Amino acid sequence: MPKKTTISVIKCDIGSLAGHHIVPKLLLEIAEKHLKKAQKQGMINSHYVFHAGDDLELLMVHEKGEENPKIHKIAWDTFQDAAKKAVSLKLYGAGQDLLKSAFSGNVRGMGPGVAEMEIEERRSDPIIVFAGDKASGSAFNFPLFRIFADPMNTAGLVIDPNLAGGFKFEVLDVMKNRKVVLKCPEEMYELIALVGTPERYMISRIWRAKDDLICATSSTTKLSLIAGKYVGKDDPVSIVRAQHGLPAVGEILAPFMHSYFVEGWMRGSHWGPLMPVGLEFSKCTIFDGPPRMVALGFQVCNGGIASDDDGTPLISDLFDDPAFDMARREAMEYAAALRRMGEFEPARLGAETMEYTTLPQVLKKLRRRFKPA
Ligand code: F6R
Ligand code: MG
Ligand code: MG
Repeated sequence: MPKKTTISVIKCDIGSLAGHHIVPKLLLEIAEKHLKKAQKQGMINSHYVFHAGDDLELLMVHEKGEENPKIHKIAWDTFQDAAKKAVSLKLYGAGQDLLKSAFSGNVRGMGPGVAEMEIEERRSDPIIVFAGDKASGSAFNFPLFRIFADPMNTAGLVIDPNLAGGFKFEVLDVMKNRKVVLKCPEEMYELIALVGTPERYMISRIWRAKDDLICATSSTTKLSLIAGKYVGKDDPVSIVRAQHGLPAVGEILAPFMHSYFVEGWMRGSHWGPLMPVGLEFSKCTIFDGPPRMVALGFQVCNGGIASDDDGTPLISDLFDDPAFDMARREAMEYAAALRRMGEFEPARLGAETMEYTTLPQVLKKLRRRFKPA
């Protein structure tokens, strides 16, 4: 059996500085300490700690496979420790995503978001990790469709015979907790029919059709469906593999040339324009947003991340680039247009999604006052 490498991105909102906008440095340092120790003990081979707005993001590369209890425990303990510090400083929303108190082998369903991908390393394997804040898991539906199914985005679908066989998409129905696999280009219209409804359907995995090579995975948590009420948005993470018979890094980034709309933003209750940003601007301000997305590029190498001589992982902050200025500008223009509509749909999310927010409590008060018309 060839050796396999696993990329795990596990994230959690464990508390934020000045509202829900940023993870302060000292919490990132606590996470760094935990992952450094795990690496020293040989549990993981590489790690990188960063944040997307108020979400603490742990990138770990190891050889233990997906859903490994030891890896999930490292993340769980890190979040617990960071949350403890956040509580002691009375940071905002301290521990907000840690929905359960006892760890039972897997952080899935306990609050944190997870994207994991086990791969057989190719001769060279470029990876992009995306992480968003004030957005939901389905925020990746639109770009993933464009990257892996739209020949107007991905030139390789037209030009490279290795991509011409198309890709298979696993789509999760989060309301009914069931999934289906659709193959593009043959079932492209059906795929759009589903994932064009991001409130309900999320792309969770993508494989290259000709050989079932795994190419992308996304977190698909719906915290509100776990907790039964609004507990913050399911700020998403995704892992995408690039090049040599897969979409090129540039094709994977191309959908972010323009802003597009995602569910989330203020109180997880609004459509908001996605703003691609470098790590420096990974914080949410106006109307708790606009929803932000960071993208980190790296190479996997012998079970870890290709690193420099002192072991620092080589990470490229892909959206830290004037090439995305136009999308950022568009995002602010769309943001202004939506905010002009205040609490009127379609600026606010549709009624079904609002069921999981605090709005029903407000409407309950009016129930008795309605008379037959
Ligand atoms: C969205 C988010 C924020 C909060 C908002 C109100 O995911 O986290 O937009 O919903 O700031 O927060 P509370 O109710 O905690 O004051
Ligand atoms: Mg928060
Ligand atoms: Mg968040």
